[in-house]
Amino acid sequence: MSTQEEVEVSYDVSNEFFRLWLDEKMNYTCGLYEGTDDLEEAQMKKLHWLSEAAHVTPDSRVLDIGCGWGANLEFLVTHKGVKSAEGITLSRSQHDEIMQRGLPGVQANVCDYRDYEPTEKFDAVISICMMEHIARPEEVRDGEHIKAYRHYFKKAWEWTNPGAWFGLQTILRNRVPRNKKDLHDIGFITTDIFPGGLSLRLEDVIQAVNPYWEVMEVQTRREHYEKTCAEWLRRMKLHEELIRDKWGDKVFDDYDRYLSACVRGFQMHYQSLAQYALRRID
Ligand SMILES: C[S@@+](CC[C@H](N)C(=O)[O-])C[C@H]1O[C@@H](n2cnc3c(N)ncnc32)[C@H](O)[C@@H]1O
Repeated sequence: MSTQEEVEVSYDVSNEFFRLWLDEKMNYTCGLYEGTDDLEEAQMKKLHWLSEAAHVTPDSRVLDIGCGWGANLEFLVTHKGVKSAEGITLSRSQHDEIMQRGLPGVQANVCDYRDYEPTEKFDAVISICMMEHIARPEEVRDGEHIKAYRHYFKKAWEWTNPGAWFGLQTILRNRVPRNKKDLHDIGFITTDIFPGGLSLRLEDVIQAVNPYWEVMEVQTRREHYEKTCAEWLRRMKLHEELIRDKWGDKVFDDYDRYLSACVRGFQMHYQSLAQYALRRID
């Protein structure tokens, strides 16, 4: 599991920095480019897909595990008519951003999901690219990861009412690069940009949901993440001078290397993305 300090390496560079190149609502995950070439729209379509997967209605009480800067929480209360949406994140800067948005019906907590205890149960769960923080590379090597993923699914089960659905999104690691540069770049992302975490294998999720959730639908979206990262990189480069000035050369160079490696990683099938509709097993 990424520690709080490691998560802060990934998400607490500065909210202003991420605002420069993410979409306007600050989704830091793959968009769904269906019938659009626009990042803002692709992010809305992704959130729509996941809320449908989670069977969200205006009366649902919804939990977002790993809620980032609150894009999904905002989508739920403004576009889905949800009256009660709660998020958890380990990043204090993300929590500050959510609080500043002042969204009615939204509650956010800085807390490790393993320590989280809701005051009331939920009807739907959404979790967008948070599972990558659950198992450390060394835990995966030691075969400890399925146990950790299963514990996460067990927690989500315990926090929900019978009949709940779960809209899940995860990055997949599909194939190991055959050349040194790509291997090093992917290693760099793991150690320097997202320390303490690792993307999953599709079969990990299929195995770990049992006996808590039934997989009802899986969609893979590799090209959509390649496109999302290419657009983040394009936008970040537009602000090169400002970023070098305000946050230093290292931040710009590291993010340039990381986002470029992601574009290539999705192109080369090293990585992919999956979205799942899960139904609670009662
Ligand atoms: C890649 S970000 C995705 C954010 C958001 N879901 C989005 O789509 O933009 C991963 C999120 O998981 C959160 N996270 C990581 N480890 C966590 C943990 N142990 N408990 C709660 N949240 C965690 C991070 O703080 C961050 O908000």
